[in-house]
Amino acid sequence: MAMVCLSDFEAYAKKYLPKIAWDFFAAGADDCSTRDENILAYRRIRFRPRVLRDVSMMDIRTKLLGTEISFPVGIAPTGFHQLAWPDGEKSTARAAKAMNTCYIASTYSTCTLQEISTAAPGGLRWFQLYIHRNREVSQQLVQQAEDLGFQGLVLTVDLPYTGKRRDDVRNGFRLPPHMKLKNLEGAFGVCRTSPYGLPPNSLDPSVTWNDIYWLRSLTHLPIILKGILTKEDAELAARHGVQGIIVSNHGGRQLDGGPATVDALVEVVEAVQGRVEVYLDGGIRKGSDVLKALALGAKCVFIGRPALWGLAYKGEEGLQDVLRILQDEFRLSMALAG
Ligand code: FNR
Repeated sequence: MAMVCLSDFEAYAKKYLPKIAWDFFAAGADDCSTRDENILAYRRIRFRPRVLRDVSMMDIRTKLLGTEISFPVGIAPTGFHQLAWPDGEKSTARAAKAMNTCYIASTYSTCTLQEISTAAPGGLRWFQLYIHRNREVSQQLVQQAEDLGFQGLVLTVDLPYTGKRRDDVRNGFRLPPHMKLKNLEGAFGVCRTSPYGLPPNSLDPSVTWNDIYWLRSLTHLPIILKGILTKEDAELAARHGVQGIIVSNHGGRQLDGGPATVDALVEVVEAVQGRVEVYLDGGIRKGSDVLKALALGAKCVFIGRPALWGLAYKGEEGLQDVLRILQDEFRLSMALAG
Protein backbone atom coordinates (compact mmCIF):
# COMPACT_ATOMS: atom_id res chain seq x y z
CA MET A 1 0.00 0.00 0.00
CA ALA A 2 1.52 3.35 -1.03
CA MET A 3 1.41 5.79 1.88
CA VAL A 4 0.90 9.15 0.21
CA CYS A 5 -0.99 11.25 2.72
CA LEU A 6 -2.05 11.03 6.35
CA SER A 7 -5.45 9.54 5.46
CA ASP A 8 -3.61 6.47 4.16
CA PHE A 9 -2.20 5.91 7.65
CA GLU A 10 -5.64 6.46 9.14
CA ALA A 11 -7.13 3.82 6.82
CA TYR A 12 -4.33 1.39 7.70
CA ALA A 13 -4.79 1.92 11.44
CA LYS A 14 -8.53 1.48 11.16
CA LYS A 15 -8.10 -1.77 9.25
CA TYR A 16 -5.40 -3.37 11.39
CA LEU A 17 -5.82 -2.10 14.96
CA PRO A 18 -8.14 -4.03 17.27
CA LYS A 19 -11.52 -2.27 17.14
CA ILE A 20 -11.38 -1.26 20.80
CA ALA A 21 -8.03 0.52 20.29
CA TRP A 22 -9.11 2.17 17.04
CA ASP A 23 -12.31 3.40 18.68
CA PHE A 24 -10.36 4.78 21.64
CA PHE A 25 -8.00 6.74 19.36
CA ALA A 26 -10.79 8.00 17.12
CA ALA A 27 -13.22 8.89 19.89
CA GLY A 28 -14.67 12.35 20.34
CA ALA A 29 -17.05 13.45 23.08
CA ASP A 30 -20.83 13.06 22.71
CA ASP A 31 -21.71 13.25 19.02
CA CYS A 32 -18.22 14.30 17.98
CA SER A 33 -19.24 17.64 16.50
CA THR A 34 -16.17 19.48 17.81
CA ARG A 35 -13.83 16.66 16.75
CA ASP A 36 -15.19 16.85 13.21
CA GLU A 37 -15.32 20.66 13.21
CA ASN A 38 -11.56 20.77 13.86
CA ILE A 39 -11.09 19.26 10.41
CA LEU A 40 -13.94 20.97 8.55
CA ALA A 41 -12.74 24.41 9.66
CA TYR A 42 -9.57 24.06 7.58
CA ARG A 43 -11.64 23.47 4.47
CA ARG A 44 -13.40 26.80 4.93
CA ILE A 45 -10.15 28.74 5.20
CA ARG A 46 -8.77 29.78 1.82
CA PHE A 47 -5.36 31.15 0.85
CA ARG A 48 -4.64 34.41 -0.96
CA PRO A 49 -1.69 33.08 -2.92
CA ARG A 50 1.01 35.41 -4.21
CA VAL A 51 3.22 34.66 -7.21
CA LEU A 52 6.65 35.48 -8.68
CA ARG A 53 8.33 35.58 -5.29
CA ASP A 54 11.37 33.29 -5.77
CA VAL A 55 10.54 30.26 -3.72
CA SER A 56 13.63 28.32 -4.76
CA MET A 57 15.04 28.50 -1.22
CA MET A 58 12.87 28.09 1.84
CA ASP A 59 13.63 27.85 5.52
CA ILE A 60 10.95 25.91 7.38
CA ARG A 61 12.74 25.68 10.72
CA THR A 62 11.30 27.38 13.77
CA LYS A 63 12.02 27.73 17.48
CA LEU A 64 9.98 26.51 20.43
CA LEU A 65 10.84 28.70 23.41
CA GLY A 66 14.29 29.21 21.98
CA THR A 67 15.01 25.65 20.85
CA GLU A 68 15.19 25.02 17.13
CA ILE A 69 13.08 22.34 15.47
CA SER A 70 13.23 21.25 11.84
CA PHE A 71 9.70 22.34 10.94
CA PRO A 72 6.69 23.67 12.84
CA VAL A 73 4.99 20.37 13.66
CA GLY A 74 5.45 18.54 16.95
CA ILE A 75 3.79 15.56 18.60
CA ALA A 76 0.88 16.28 20.94
CA PRO A 77 0.58 14.29 24.16
CA THR A 78 -1.57 11.20 23.74
CA GLY A 79 -1.84 8.30 26.16
CA PHE A 80 -1.27 4.58 25.72
CA HIS A 81 1.08 4.35 22.73
CA GLN A 82 1.51 0.63 23.36
CA LEU A 83 -2.03 0.22 22.08
CA ALA A 84 -0.62 1.25 18.70
CA TRP A 85 2.85 -0.35 18.79
CA PRO A 86 4.59 -2.66 21.28
CA ASP A 87 7.48 -0.28 21.96
CA GLY A 88 4.98 2.50 22.63
CA GLU A 89 6.34 5.89 23.62
CA LYS A 90 9.96 4.76 23.16
CA SER A 91 9.29 4.58 19.42
CA THR A 92 7.59 7.97 19.50
CA ALA A 93 10.60 9.52 21.20
CA ARG A 94 12.97 8.02 18.64
CA ALA A 95 10.91 9.21 15.68
CA ALA A 96 10.62 12.75 17.08
CA LYS A 97 14.34 12.91 17.67
CA ALA A 98 15.14 11.56 14.20
CA MET A 99 12.95 14.28 12.68
CA ASN A 100 14.33 16.90 15.05
CA THR A 101 11.02 17.96 16.48
CA CYS A 102 9.35 18.18 19.88
CA TYR A 103 7.53 15.29 21.54
CA ILE A 104 5.18 16.06 24.41
CA ALA A 105 5.04 12.91 26.53
CA SER A 106 1.72 12.27 28.30
CA THR A 107 1.21 11.59 32.00
CA TYR A 108 -0.70 8.57 30.70
CA SER A 109 2.26 6.98 28.93
CA THR A 110 2.72 3.25 28.85
CA CYS A 111 6.50 3.69 29.24
CA THR A 112 8.19 5.52 32.11
CA LEU A 113 9.68 8.97 31.59
CA GLN A 114 13.06 7.35 32.21
CA GLU A 115 12.49 4.80 29.43
CA ILE A 116 11.37 7.58 27.07
CA SER A 117 14.50 9.61 27.84
CA THR A 118 16.83 6.70 27.45
CA ALA A 119 15.26 5.69 24.14
CA ALA A 120 16.22 8.98 22.48
CA PRO A 121 18.84 10.85 24.49
CA GLY A 122 19.08 14.53 23.73
CA GLY A 123 15.74 14.79 21.91
CA LEU A 124 13.56 17.83 22.57
CA ARG A 125 10.79 16.73 24.93
CA TRP A 126 8.16 18.39 27.03
CA PHE A 127 6.19 16.62 29.75
CA GLN A 128 2.40 16.87 29.87
CA LEU A 129 0.89 16.91 33.32
CA TYR A 130 -2.56 16.09 34.60
CA ILE A 131 -2.97 17.24 38.19
CA HIS A 132 -4.23 14.44 40.42
CA ARG A 133 -5.85 14.85 43.82
CA ASN A 134 -2.71 13.38 45.28
CA ARG A 135 -0.55 16.43 44.65
CA GLU A 136 2.59 14.64 45.75
CA VAL A 137 2.33 12.40 42.70
CA SER A 138 2.19 15.41 40.39
CA GLN A 139 5.05 17.05 42.20
CA GLN A 140 7.23 13.96 41.86
CA LEU A 141 6.46 13.64 38.16
CA VAL A 142 7.36 17.26 37.50
CA GLN A 143 10.63 16.88 39.36
CA GLN A 144 11.43 13.67 37.56
CA ALA A 145 10.74 15.25 34.17
CA GLU A 146 13.01 18.17 35.00
CA ASP A 147 15.78 15.87 36.25
CA LEU A 148 15.55 13.81 33.07
CA GLY A 149 16.07 16.86 30.85
CA PHE A 150 12.52 17.48 29.67
CA GLN A 151 12.52 21.11 28.62
CA GLY A 152 8.92 22.21 29.14
CA LEU A 153 5.96 21.46 31.35
CA VAL A 154 2.62 21.29 29.57
CA LEU A 155 -0.35 21.54 31.92
CA THR A 156 -3.54 20.24 30.36
CA VAL A 157 -6.36 22.44 31.59
CA ASP A 158 -9.41 21.06 29.79
CA LEU A 159 -9.85 17.80 31.66
CA PRO A 160 -11.25 18.27 35.16
CA TYR A 161 -13.27 15.17 34.30
CA THR A 162 -12.98 12.89 31.29
CA GLY A 163 -15.39 13.67 28.44
CA LYS A 164 -18.10 11.18 27.55
CA ARG A 165 -16.81 9.12 24.63
CA ARG A 166 -19.66 6.90 23.64
CA ASP A 167 -17.73 4.18 21.85
CA ASP A 168 -15.42 3.71 24.83
CA VAL A 169 -18.47 3.30 27.05
CA ARG A 170 -20.06 0.85 24.62
CA ASN A 171 -16.84 -1.14 24.25
CA GLY A 172 -16.14 -1.10 27.99
CA PHE A 173 -12.68 0.29 27.14
CA ARG A 174 -9.94 -0.88 29.51
CA LEU A 175 -6.20 -0.98 29.16
CA PRO A 176 -5.15 -4.59 28.48
CA PRO A 177 -3.72 -6.16 31.66
CA HIS A 178 -0.13 -6.20 30.35
CA MET A 179 -0.14 -2.42 29.80
CA LYS A 180 0.31 -0.01 32.65
CA LEU A 181 0.26 3.71 33.19
CA LYS A 182 3.92 3.40 34.02
CA ASN A 183 4.36 6.86 35.48
CA LEU A 184 1.60 6.35 37.98
CA GLU A 185 2.42 2.80 38.98
CA GLY A 186 2.35 2.49 42.71
CA ALA A 187 0.92 5.99 43.11
CA PHE A 188 -2.64 4.76 43.41
CA GLY A 189 -4.09 1.40 44.26
CA VAL A 190 -4.71 -0.57 41.05
CA CYS A 191 -8.32 -0.46 39.96
CA ARG A 192 -9.15 -3.05 37.34
CA THR A 193 -12.70 -1.88 36.85
CA SER A 194 -11.94 1.66 35.66
CA PRO A 195 -10.87 2.35 32.08
CA TYR A 196 -7.27 3.38 32.75
CA GLY A 197 -6.70 1.28 35.83
CA LEU A 198 -6.78 4.38 38.04
CA PRO A 199 -9.27 4.85 40.83
CA PRO A 200 -12.29 6.84 39.68
CA ASN A 201 -11.99 10.56 40.50
CA SER A 202 -8.22 10.46 40.81
CA LEU A 203 -7.96 13.70 38.81
CA ASP A 204 -8.33 16.92 40.73
CA PRO A 205 -11.29 18.92 39.38
CA SER A 206 -10.71 21.76 41.85
CA VAL A 207 -7.65 23.11 40.01
CA THR A 208 -7.73 26.92 39.45
CA TRP A 209 -5.47 29.67 38.16
CA ASN A 210 -3.87 29.83 41.61
CA ASP A 211 -2.40 26.41 40.99
CA ILE A 212 -0.24 27.88 38.26
CA TYR A 213 1.68 29.58 41.09
CA TRP A 214 1.94 26.24 42.88
CA LEU A 215 3.33 24.67 39.71
CA ARG A 216 5.71 27.59 39.26
CA SER A 217 7.06 26.94 42.75
CA LEU A 218 7.86 23.33 41.82
CA THR A 219 9.95 23.82 38.72
CA HIS A 220 12.21 26.05 36.68
CA LEU A 221 10.78 24.65 33.46
CA PRO A 222 8.73 26.90 31.21
CA ILE A 223 5.00 26.28 31.68
CA ILE A 224 2.71 25.82 28.69
CA LEU A 225 -1.07 25.66 29.15
CA LYS A 226 -2.86 23.23 26.84
CA GLY A 227 -6.57 23.67 26.25
CA ILE A 228 -7.09 27.44 26.01
CA LEU A 229 -9.84 28.50 23.58
CA THR A 230 -10.84 32.06 24.49
CA LYS A 231 -9.28 35.51 24.68
CA GLU A 232 -10.31 35.77 28.33
CA ASP A 233 -8.36 32.67 29.33
CA ALA A 234 -5.47 33.65 27.06
CA GLU A 235 -5.24 36.97 28.93
CA LEU A 236 -5.31 35.15 32.28
CA ALA A 237 -2.61 32.78 31.08
CA ALA A 238 -0.37 35.69 30.10
CA ARG A 239 -1.03 37.43 33.43
CA HIS A 240 -0.12 34.28 35.33
CA GLY A 241 3.26 34.32 33.66
CA VAL A 242 3.13 31.15 31.57
CA GLN A 243 5.47 30.89 28.61
CA GLY A 244 3.20 29.15 26.11
CA ILE A 245 -0.39 28.33 25.19
CA ILE A 246 -1.62 25.42 23.13
CA VAL A 247 -4.98 26.31 21.62
CA SER A 248 -6.63 22.92 21.91
CA ASN A 249 -9.97 21.25 22.51
CA HIS A 250 -8.34 17.91 23.24
CA GLY A 251 -9.13 16.69 19.74
CA GLY A 252 -12.85 17.15 20.48
CA ARG A 253 -12.71 14.55 23.26
CA GLN A 254 -13.82 16.85 26.09
CA LEU A 255 -16.55 19.50 25.72
CA ASP A 256 -18.55 18.85 22.58
CA GLY A 257 -19.94 22.01 21.00
CA GLY A 258 -16.92 24.27 21.35
CA PRO A 259 -15.13 25.88 18.41
CA ALA A 260 -12.64 24.36 16.03
CA THR A 261 -9.19 25.19 17.33
CA VAL A 262 -8.16 27.04 14.18
CA ASP A 263 -11.23 29.28 14.61
CA ALA A 264 -10.36 29.97 18.27
CA LEU A 265 -6.73 30.68 17.41
CA VAL A 266 -7.23 34.22 16.13
CA GLU A 267 -8.70 35.67 19.34
CA VAL A 268 -6.04 33.99 21.45
CA VAL A 269 -3.23 35.37 19.30
CA GLU A 270 -4.76 38.84 19.43
CA ALA A 271 -5.21 38.69 23.20
CA VAL A 272 -1.66 37.74 24.10
CA GLN A 273 0.02 40.26 21.77
CA GLY A 274 3.26 38.32 21.59
CA ARG A 275 3.67 38.00 25.38
CA VAL A 276 3.32 34.22 25.17
CA GLU A 277 4.11 31.75 22.36
CA VAL A 278 0.90 30.37 20.87
CA TYR A 279 0.65 26.88 19.41
CA LEU A 280 -2.31 24.84 18.23
CA ASP A 281 -3.43 21.24 17.95
CA GLY A 282 -6.54 19.56 16.53
CA GLY A 283 -7.42 18.51 13.01
CA ILE A 284 -4.03 18.94 11.36
CA ARG A 285 -4.05 16.41 8.53
CA LYS A 286 -2.16 18.14 5.70
CA GLY A 287 0.78 20.45 5.19
CA SER A 288 -1.60 23.16 4.03
CA ASP A 289 -3.43 22.93 7.40
CA VAL A 290 -0.11 23.70 9.10
CA LEU A 291 0.38 26.71 6.84
CA LYS A 292 -3.14 28.00 7.58
CA ALA A 293 -2.58 27.76 11.34
CA LEU A 294 0.76 29.55 11.02
CA ALA A 295 -0.74 32.24 8.82
CA LEU A 296 -3.33 32.86 11.55
CA GLY A 297 -0.65 33.30 14.18
CA ALA A 298 0.40 29.90 15.57
CA LYS A 299 4.12 29.45 16.07
CA CYS A 300 3.90 25.67 15.72
CA VAL A 301 1.24 22.97 15.59
CA PHE A 302 1.05 19.52 17.15
CA ILE A 303 -0.48 16.29 15.85
CA GLY A 304 -2.34 13.80 18.04
CA ARG A 305 -4.14 11.02 16.17
CA PRO A 306 -1.92 11.08 13.03
CA ALA A 307 1.08 10.22 15.22
CA LEU A 308 -0.81 7.20 16.57
CA TRP A 309 -1.68 6.09 13.02
CA GLY A 310 2.01 6.33 12.09
CA LEU A 311 2.95 4.19 15.10
CA ALA A 312 0.24 1.66 14.24
CA TYR A 313 1.64 1.40 10.70
CA LYS A 314 5.31 0.74 11.51
CA GLY A 315 6.29 2.08 14.90
CA GLU A 316 9.02 4.66 14.86
CA GLU A 317 9.49 4.33 11.10
CA GLY A 318 5.79 4.84 10.47
CA LEU A 319 5.71 7.95 12.64
CA GLN A 320 8.73 9.30 10.79
CA ASP A 321 6.88 8.70 7.52
CA VAL A 322 3.91 10.70 8.82
CA LEU A 323 6.15 13.58 9.89
CA ARG A 324 8.10 13.51 6.63
CA ILE A 325 4.92 13.64 4.55
CA LEU A 326 3.65 16.60 6.57
CA GLN A 327 7.01 18.29 6.21
CA ASP A 328 7.06 17.85 2.42
CA GLU A 329 3.45 18.99 2.09
CA PHE A 330 4.09 22.01 4.28
CA ARG A 331 7.11 23.04 2.25
CA LEU A 332 5.16 22.64 -1.00
CA SER A 333 2.18 24.66 0.29
CA MET A 334 4.51 27.43 1.40
CA ALA A 335 6.08 27.59 -2.04
CA LEU A 336 2.75 27.49 -3.87
CA ALA A 337 1.27 30.17 -1.61
CA GLY A 338 4.23 32.43 -2.33
C1 FNR B 1 -5.37 12.70 23.47
N1 FNR B 1 -5.08 13.96 24.00
C2 FNR B 1 -4.41 14.06 25.20
N2 FNR B 1 -4.07 15.27 25.70
C3 FNR B 1 -3.36 15.38 26.83
O1 FNR B 1 -3.06 16.49 27.25
N3 FNR B 1 -2.98 14.25 27.51
C4 FNR B 1 -3.28 13.00 27.09
O2 FNR B 1 -2.91 12.01 27.71
C5 FNR B 1 -4.05 12.89 25.91
N4 FNR B 1 -4.42 11.66 25.45
C6 FNR B 1 -5.03 11.54 24.22
C7 FNR B 1 -5.29 10.28 23.71
C8 FNR B 1 -5.83 10.15 22.44
C9 FNR B 1 -6.08 8.78 21.88
C10 FNR B 1 -6.15 11.31 21.68
C11 FNR B 1 -6.72 11.20 20.29
C12 FNR B 1 -5.92 12.56 22.20
C13 FNR B 1 -5.34 15.18 23.20
C14 FNR B 1 -4.18 15.50 22.27
O3 FNR B 1 -3.07 15.98 22.98
C15 FNR B 1 -4.54 16.56 21.22
O4 FNR B 1 -5.10 17.66 21.86
C16 FNR B 1 -5.47 16.08 20.13
O5 FNR B 1 -5.25 14.73 19.81
C17 FNR B 1 -5.26 16.93 18.88
O6 FNR B 1 -6.17 16.58 17.89
P1 FNR B 1 -5.83 15.61 16.64
O7 FNR B 1 -4.45 15.97 16.11
O8 FNR B 1 -5.90 14.23 17.17
O9 FNR B 1 -6.92 15.94 15.69
